[in-house]
This record gives sequence, structure tokens and C-alpha cells, in this order.
Amino acid sequence: MNRQRALKLGVIGDPIAHSKSPAMHNAALRELGLEGEYAAIHVTPQRLGDMIRSVREDGYRGINVTIPHKENVMPYLDELGEDARRIGAVNTIVNENGRLIGRNTDGIGYVRSLKEEAAAELTGRRIVVIGAGGAARGIVHALAAEAPDRITLLNRTTQRAEELAREWSDLIDLVALPADRAAQALESADLVINTTSVGMHPHVDGLPLDPALLRGTEIVSDLIYNPLETRLLRLARERGCRTHGGLGMFVYQGAYALEYWTGVPAPVSAMRRAVLASME
Ligand code: ATR
Repeated sequence: MNRQRALKLGVIGDPIAHSKSPAMHNAALRELGLEGEYAAIHVTPQRLGDMIRSVREDGYRGINVTIPHKENVMPYLDELGEDARRIGAVNTIVNENGRLIGRNTDGIGYVRSLKEEAAAELTGRRIVVIGAGGAARGIVHALAAEAPDRITLLNRTTQRAEELAREWSDLIDLVALPADRAAQALESADLVINTTSVGMHPHVDGLPLDPALLRGTEIVSDLIYNPLETRLLRLARERGCRTHGGLGMFVYQGAYALEYWTGVPAPVSAMRRAVLASME
């Protein structure tokens, strides 16, 4: 990479106005003393192809991709990392001299934050994942690399959990159970992870799981970061579980993306501070 040139970075999505990524990445660029700018770019599905052309022609070094483009952007790229291919979604594009490479840093960002912030030991542990959507796919992919004993998927729509379980069954012991079998799944769970949007602002009273079932569970984790502590996490904490919120996942998915683009370690603390400040 030519370090003399200002870095052109951004995030594409629809909507995009409330994204915290610009605040986080611009703070990181300042902290690193790198010249450049990270912009929020509103791109409708109809304009996605034009935007990707602009990424090439206007010399963007990197782009984050958010809803609704994470899957639809894939055909426009030149190459997909193993992570993005397997998860079926791209959240980070790296422009290597005009060659656009799609990566997915959501899952590894999540696992890194779990290890750093909840001191979670994953190898040999029993994990319950609630949900079987796009977020769950990234999480399962990254967790599989940590060699847990078993992952049990609980989802409102059991068939979706079964499909996900089948897809990763070559890598890991995965079991799909209907949501009404939560009690059985939680009996021996060390770690429970909510990947659904249940409990997210403004529906903060939502609970993806009956907290009374959290008997021997050591850590309860929620991907949601608005609110910073969901009702599930508060009730789990009150029951004596260690809890882990979603802010760290957001920060570390950004940190990995920034490291792909710049080749230098991301200033994680400054990034976290910037996100928190932008939420006030
Ligand atoms: P994401 O990319 O955020 O995972 P998604 O692919 O739409 O979004 O998946 C949403 C997940 O949250 C799914 O597991 C969904 O359950 P279904 O597969 O049954 O739809 C789950 N979910 C969303 N709202 C829910 C609710 N009110 N109760 C239970 N599960 C819910």
C-alpha cells in the first residue's frame, strides 16, 4: 500500500445515517496518525453495482458492508475469503490494487471480544446459540475454529437451525433443537449466546430465553449493543452469570477490518471510546 496517499474508506448500507462505524474508524485513523477519511455512504440496492465500480475507480482502499448488501455484494467481487464464502456474507471489502476481496470479520470479531472481555475459554465447552440467521452463521463459523465440545442451536424456526447445523456438521458437533427444548439445551451449557434481535432497542423488554433456565451457565453473551446491557444480560447477571454484551463485537469486527486495510494493529481502546461517545 502506498502510505503517502490518504486512505479512502467507508461503509455502505441502506439506511446508513445512524451507523457508528464512521465515528469509530475516523477516531482510529486519528489515533494512528494516518491521513484519510471513513465515510457513511448511502447506497440503495439499485445503486450497488455503481458503488462497487466507484470503489475501483475512485481508489477506495476498504469498504464495510452492512444491511441490506452483505449477501448481494458477493457477485461483484473478484475473490472471497474462506470466511465470507462459508458464512455467505461479506462485511469487509479490501481493495488490493484494483482486485476486490470480500471478507467477513463479524465472527472473529465476536470471538476475540468474548475472549478479551469475558475471559471465555471455548475449547471443550458446551455452547448454546439462540437464533439461526445471518448473525448466527458468522458466530458458528468462528466458534467452530475454537474446538468447543458441542454447539446447540435453538431457534424459533427449527428448520432454519437444522439447515445451519447440517452446513457446519463437517467441522463440529452441532445439534439443532426447537425453541421449546431450551431447558434440555441449557442443562449442560457453559456459554449461552443470543444472536437474535429480541431485546434490542426499542423493544427492550424482549427476552430470547427464560432466565430461570440459566442454572449452571457460566457466561451469557448477547450480540445486541443497544442497550449496552439487555434485559437478558441484566437478569443473567442477577442470577450470578458472567455477562458479555455486543459492543465488543462491533469494535473488534471494525478492528480486524482496519487491520486488513492498514496492516497495522488497530487502536481498540480509542475505537471503543469513540463508539460509546457517539451513543451518548
Ligand atoms: P440476523 O442477520 O440479525 O441474524 P436474520 O437473518 O433475519 O437477522 O435472523 C434473525 C434471527 O432472529 C432468526 O434466528 C430469527 O428466528 P426465525 O429464524 O425463527 O425467524 C430470530 N428472531 C427474530 N425475531 C424473533 C422473535 N421475536 N422471537 C424469536 N426469534 C426471533
